[in-house]
Amino acid sequence: MRIRINGLIIKNFLTQRTIVRTIASTPCSYSKMAPKTVFITGANRGIGLGIVRELLKNSEIETIIAGARSVENAVELQSLAKSDAARLHTIQFDASNDESIANSVKQVDQLVGARGLNLLINNAGVNLPYKTDDVPNRETILKCIDVNAVGALLTSQHFLPLLQRAASLSGDDQLSASRAAIINIGSDCSSQTLNITGFCNNTLVAYKMSKVAMLSFARSLVADFETLKVPVLVTTIHPGWVLTDMGGPDADITVEESASKIVNSIDRLNSTHHGGLFDRQLGVMPF
Ligand SMILES: NC(=O)c1ccc[n+]([C@@H]2O[C@H](COP(=O)([O-])OP(=O)(O)OC[C@H]3O[C@@H](n4cnc5c(N)ncnc54)[C@H](OP(=O)(O)O)[C@@H]3O)[C@@H](O)[C@H]2O)c1
Repeated sequence: MRIRINGLIIKNFLTQRTIVRTIASTPCSYSKMAPKTVFITGANRGIGLGIVRELLKNSEIETIIAGARSVENAVELQSLAKSDAARLHTIQFDASNDESIANSVKQVDQLVGARGLNLLINNAGVNLPYKTDDVPNRETILKCIDVNAVGALLTSQHFLPLLQRAASLSGDDQLSASRAAIINIGSDCSSQTLNITGFCNNTLVAYKMSKVAMLSFARSLVADFETLKVPVLVTTIHPGWVLTDMGGPDADITVEESASKIVNSIDRLNSTHHGGLFDRQLGVMPF
């Protein structure tokens, strides 16, 4: 079944997960410059680990710092880091722990030095199933919002000085990920327009709230950065429905398909993406 809303064709409307195909893609001027320094959260498995693998393929990227809640247990990430020890570094990072976030800033600062941080990717996330007809449970809802939205906002605030340091070194005044950017790994669940008649499935009540909140703070940062004259690009990218622990076995695409498209999009980010919601190939998604 196909339904058209605001120029978007929405397919498989009655299936568990809705696939969005955008008609118009965003006009872009390509910067074709890669960020020199990147920090990504939730990098020990799933999409985060996939993004690390893709970032390593780009030799222009000098330093990749991968955050994991437990570095000791991050076996795949550790072995990747051994294979490219000069560029890939692993640090402890827990989005729900202020001390951990503050410590991660210190460690990233030491690794990037005077270059500052060009790109922060807020990827860490949880999906705690919650249905309208469940036994009411404040803790579950708050946990989801805490990691996905509050943690990502606090991380963005903590890393702002390092992002501004990188931005100040840039020769041009354009917004780009080679200068300074925050990419939030959002979701189609960030979209209120798509959240109709039980979009996706009915266990996502808390997750949808968290991802809408994530998009909301990105919009606020954009507005405030304008006033505060902070030249840091902020954007939100939906990775697709991906075969990970979170996405489950019925998902549409592999981690490699999602991560390679996201990483390919990084170099194309510009002011037209500031504050928006996009799919992994930078097709516009509705709010
Ligand atoms: N998969 C999909 O279909 C899909 C669709 C739309 C959006 N997304 C978004 O994509 C991002 C990655 O999802 P995924 O599918 O890769 O999920 P995943 O396989 O479940 O991996 C989640 C990652 O987040 C980390 N994490 C969880 N809680 C954390 C915390 N408090 N602090 C730091 N890290 C934490 C996990 O670390 P541990 O190993 O320590 O738990 C893990 O590395 C999420 O933001 C998700 O909402 C995914």
